Amino acid sequence: MFIRKQQVFLLLTFTVCVGVIIVINTQHMNLIFQTEVHQRGFIRYVNNSIKTSYMPNKIHYVCAGTTGRLGNQLYVFASSYGIAKRSGMKLVVGLNPDTLSQTFQIEGAFETDWGLCEASKFINANKCCQVANQVYKVRLNSTVHIFGYLQSYKYFTEYNEEIRKYLTFKDPILRTAKTKLNTLLTKKYGKNYRNRTLIGIHIRRGDYLRKGKQQFGYKVPSEDYFYKAQQYMEKRYKNITYLACSNDIIWTKNTFRGQRDVIVVPTGSAAVDLALLSLLHHMIMSVGTYGFWAAWFINGTTVYYKNFTLPNSDFAREFDKDKLDAIPPHWIGF
Ligand SMILES: *[C@@H]1O[C@H](CO)[C@@H](O)[C@H](O)[C@H]1NC(C)=O
Ligand SMILES: *[C@@H]1O[C@H](CO)[C@@H](O)[C@H](O)[C@H]1NC(C)=O
Ligand SMILES: *[C@@H]1O[C@H](CO)[C@@H](O)[C@H](O)[C@H]1NC(C)=O
Ligand SMILES: *[C@@H]1O[C@H](CO)[C@@H](O)[C@H](O)[C@H]1NC(C)=O
Ligand SMILES: *[C@@H]1O[C@H](CO)[C@@H](O)[C@H](O)[C@H]1NC(C)=O
Ligand SMILES: *[C@@H]1O[C@H](CO)[C@@H](O)[C@H](O)[C@H]1NC(C)=O
Repeated sequence: MFIRKQQVFLLLTFTVCVGVIIVINTQHMNLIFQTEVHQRGFIRYVNNSIKTSYMPNKIHYVCAGTTGRLGNQLYVFASSYGIAKRSGMKLVVGLNPDTLSQTFQIEGAFETDWGLCEASKFINANKCCQVANQVYKVRLNSTVHIFGYLQSYKYFTEYNEEIRKYLTFKDPILRTAKTKLNTLLTKKYGKNYRNRTLIGIHIRRGDYLRKGKQQFGYKVPSEDYFYKAQQYMEKRYKNITYLACSNDIIWTKNTFRGQRDVIVVPTGSAAVDLALLSLLHHMIMSVGTYGFWAAWFINGTTVYYKNFTLPNSDFAREFDKDKLDAIPPHWIGF
């Protein structure tokens, strides 16, 4: 799903740069701060804000910055929300890029003033898709800046309901999605399309087929996976209509050619199409964070592609052996 090698290197480079800044600046600091600064992983901006931020009884924050596109940003938000709650701390999310506040009624979920994070301890979740213990619960009495993709539902699963409230789609987005869905169904079945079981199929291809990503270990499922997933759904549900969303419409049309009850959804904005998927009953995923979030919103039966990392690849090493941190236990794998 989730990470590129270049990004890993960027992250390391950034960490090293910060280290350099710290070393340069320690000369100006008093002894107490110096010992703290020399601990591995600490980030301190050396100016007056340090002293006030480390006074006892001050509010401490969990700080995290959004990264990538919608699916990745949702993970950073939900996971840092869970971490902050679990740790009894307040949350600051640096919205850059900011797709979240344009898409959801997310106001009030966190502070956005990054100045609150000026003097923070830097904590790294090294693997995109495994829970890092040092991040899962933050024990230190200081503001922490959590760095990483945080792509495990385990960071936030016990706060699903609260998070769901903040992830209510903005009205115009939801309205557009409802109209789009209604139009597609009416076009296929006429006005009388009640009693259809609506199942989303998300087919991520496109960028996942690029050489760099393939070498890193990304895989995409073949037609057979989708057919198996459909067979499974058809054993459990009747009167199914599939709504297939993809960044490879041609492949998708070819794959489902001749299947009467598949609607290939014309590609809209990421937000509208996620809202559309959220209105359905069940989900067939392929790969990628966007599909995870569609399944999360639907919260019905989810079928996922089990073998989504190349064995022994860098990408595979981002996950635990059975991908238990990334895949909720009740999902059905093929
Ligand atoms: C402290 O340093 C940070 C980072 O360099 C900077 O953003 C902030 O404005 C500084 N604060 C003050 C009060 O100088
Ligand atoms: C954090 O603060 C509390 C109360 O002030 C104290 O009991 C606890 O030992 C502190 N923990 C750490 C890790 O400093
Ligand atoms: C399937 O749809 C038909 C009408 O098209 C309806 O009579 C039937 O009750 C539906 N079955 C289920 C299980 O909803
Ligand atoms: C839809 O299903 C319900 C029972 O599940 C049935 O009462 C109703 O007649 C069905 N509607 C259509 C249009 O088939
Ligand atoms: C899905 O629904 C179940 C039961 O209704 C609930 O316990 C769970 O938290 C929900 N999951 C999500 C992701 O909302
Ligand atoms: C998973 O995919 C790899 C190729 O990427 C293949 O060698 C392996 O046999 C597959 N494993 C299963 C269980 O299908």
